[in-house]
Amino acid sequence: MHKHLILLVDDDANILTTLGMRLEAMGYRVATAADGPSAVETAARVRPDLMLLDLRLPGMSGLEVLGVVKGAEPAPEVILLTAQGSVETAVAAIKAGAYDYIEKPVDSKRLGVLLEQALAHRGVRQEVGRLKESLREMGRFGHMVGQSDAMQVLYQFIDQVARTEATVMVTGESGTGKELIARTIHDMSPRAQGPFVAVNCSAIMATLWESEMFGFEKGAFTGAHKRHLGYLEQAAGGTLFLDEIGEMTPETQAKFLRVLETRRVNRVGGSHEIPLDIRVVAATNRNLEEAIAEGAFREDLYYRLNVFTLHAPPLRERRSDIPLLARTFIRQFAEAYGKRLELDEAAWALLKGHDWPGNVRELRNAMERAVILAADGVIGARHLPPHLANGGGAAAAAGARTMATMLEGMTVADMERKLILHALEQTNGNKTQAARQLGISLKTLHNKLARYRDGATQEAH
Ligand SMILES: Nc1ncnc2c1ncn2[C@@H]1O[C@H](COP(=O)(O)OP(=O)(O)OP(=O)(O)O)[C@@H](O)[C@H]1O
Ligand SMILES: [Mg+2]
Repeated sequence: MHKHLILLVDDDANILTTLGMRLEAMGYRVATAADGPSAVETAARVRPDLMLLDLRLPGMSGLEVLGVVKGAEPAPEVILLTAQGSVETAVAAIKAGAYDYIEKPVDSKRLGVLLEQALAHRGVRQEVGRLKESLREMGRFGHMVGQSDAMQVLYQFIDQVARTEATVMVTGESGTGKELIARTIHDMSPRAQGPFVAVNCSAIMATLWESEMFGFEKGAFTGAHKRHLGYLEQAAGGTLFLDEIGEMTPETQAKFLRVLETRRVNRVGGSHEIPLDIRVVAATNRNLEEAIAEGAFREDLYYRLNVFTLHAPPLRERRSDIPLLARTFIRQFAEAYGKRLELDEAAWALLKGHDWPGNVRELRNAMERAVILAADGVIGARHLPPHLANGGGAAAAAGARTMATMLEGMTVADMERKLILHALEQTNGNKTQAARQLGISLKTLHNKLARYRDGATQEAH
């Protein structure tokens, strides 16, 4: 059996000898150090499974040593040796990651039990770490799926940023999983037990922004029958996810910037500001740099939000994820609809050849549709959305012929309108993407849409 290595750290030479001998008698291998710096150096060199660490040391306090060794990978389990009556420091040390403490003079029986518990704990911790790693290699990270290099890099970033309190901005096209990323950050953060409150900025009317975000006191306005907590306060102790941040109006941007700066909120009709304990994750599928250049988004707010940026790559740039995602969604939906289904080769070819402008959401929707349509155990090309088949080759040629008949009697304006609507449909209404697909600027697209809208109202009159 593997003998665990224990690093014993104490400035009392007597303790090093006597306790060292007792540990060896219990069957452990033992290394020793007599001060802080040499404890750190020895730990790095011999990589002990466990440290028995005196709290009061020359050179460096036990707490400082703890901080350093707990940052190592793999980190040893640490049990503190404390003089009688220094329980408070020991409690602080446990918060900093120590497993437990034992008072001097050390009782052999208690020490034996504690060592076994701590080493078992370490074993479990390592096992969890290994499982997480192999899941990640298999393409799973929390609820996220994808084994491409791009996703592995993203998982790594999420893992790092989740442990901090940093404000995060998630960018990416529609349907790339921005909200899922925000949830994953929350679930993997120390705030996981707290609430996750998702707010879609484009869905809140500017006039209601304050009462929805800040909440209101009873009697603040007609209809305010009782106190109402806004989204900001609802997220206290947890994470506030601000979706479509690019759609905030200039006024709401100014109000929200103030909240971020002061970390305080004043309910509508309230008499004082209330401190806020929230972590903010924002998302946008708009290019905010462009919006800043156009004067539509505040630069100061952008820098406040953009402490750490995560970019969700579009599916067409990580095509190797398509099979795993497709299989995962088919399994989920097949189970939900009580079917057993697999894709045939023709269907696979279409999935792999498509550009997925609506990204993972489009793929997910296509898989749900296919599971509903297919009855006989196999999903074929005919169960996939028709536009997947119009992508290239013979299908495109056939499409061109029907196009010619379709074009008869159409004006250029009709054509343009049809093209724009088609692009918007394909991109799930994402204007930035639709404009790119059409080869026109976002501004031109906005202008054209406004013209159609005005035209439509005139028609309605
Ligand atoms: N990597 C992924 N693994 C599994 N499911 C995913 C992944 N990415 C996205 N999805 C799923 O795709 C759908 C769209 O994801 P999500 O809502 O997070 O996208 P989004 O980037 O917020 O889109 P939008 O900009 O349109 O709001 C959801 O059902 C989500 O669960
Ligand atoms: Mg979203």
